Amino acid sequence: MQALLALEPEAHDVFQRLWLGYTESPGASALRQEICRLYATIQPDQVLVHSGAEEAIFLFMHAALQAGDHIIVHSPCYQSLGEVARSIGCDITRWPATEQQSWALDVDDLKRTMRSNTRAVVINIPHNPTGYLMAQDDFREVSRITQAQGIILFSDEVYRESEHDSADRLPPACDINEQAVSLGVMSKTYGLPGLRIGWIATHNAAIQAKMAALKDYTTICNSAPSEFLAEVALRHRQKITQRNLDIITSNLAVLDHFLARHDEQFTWIRPKAGPIAFPCLVGEDIESFCHELVTTAGVLLLPSTVYDERDNHFRIGFGRKNFPEAVARLEEFLTSRHK
Ligand SMILES: Cc1ncc(COP(=O)(O)O)c(C=O)c1O
Repeated sequence: MQALLALEPEAHDVFQRLWLGYTESPGASALRQEICRLYATIQPDQVLVHSGAEEAIFLFMHAALQAGDHIIVHSPCYQSLGEVARSIGCDITRWPATEQQSWALDVDDLKRTMRSNTRAVVINIPHNPTGYLMAQDDFREVSRITQAQGIILFSDEVYRESEHDSADRLPPACDINEQAVSLGVMSKTYGLPGLRIGWIATHNAAIQAKMAALKDYTTICNSAPSEFLAEVALRHRQKITQRNLDIITSNLAVLDHFLARHDEQFTWIRPKAGPIAFPCLVGEDIESFCHELVTTAGVLLLPSTVYDERDNHFRIGFGRKNFPEAVARLEEFLTSRHK
């Protein structure tokens, strides 16, 4: 809070005087104006602010889908990107990212799986958990073929602006596709999940109106203090993003060295964005390994079995400042087992 409020001379006083009535249901207009700066073609009335990305995912799925509809979902994925649709009664086809292809999505796969009742294609780029970034041409092709078929592209872009090389950054889907819905949030690149501020940006007025109507049954409007803090943070997002990228970059170097020292036990595709990687453990079961690691060394890795994948990968986050200490403990654990 202190660091955030120190970004602007008046911020502390404005915060103290904040009115705590209901706020505007679509999101405070000053906040929506700041959000628009992330996009090239979006106006404030094409933004709908939510309580985190999670609420936006839930409302999008309920606005766009009905039981019996078909949906294609980038996989493995953040759980709710697939599970909310499943709970509605949709038929889900996974669009698999595979390690053999460096976690790339195959656009021909998408073409083969589209059906007459496919209502949405869900992608998450930069990708949690692999750190994969799609090539520009493929991204435009995905946008083109979904739009041509009248299928909504739901593009989870919560890790956008955390590309390790900014030259790899993709355009937001909503800027290149009139039907697409782009998802953003304060939690990831900007490191402020406690604000619970997320949003969708879209030219698709019909889906936006349905989501706005559903929001009256979930949260009605957002928290006024959070909206103000998010507005300040976004005004200074270059500074915040750089701070977070510096942490990620120095932690990634620690991870690089660790995996190089243990290359008989681990293989991996180095992530191109974000603070998450999805390496593979060689020669022993990942679930028992993670269980033993967390119970004996207090280090938590997420086995790929929680993504319903039986491929022995694990999700490792390297976005925290104490990452070097966690790696040291992991290394100690590995050496003590080989004694
Ligand atoms: C890819 C992805 N989308 C959406 C979310 C949800 O974000 P939030 O927790 O801010 O609602 C997450 C959170 O981990 C995520 O990783």
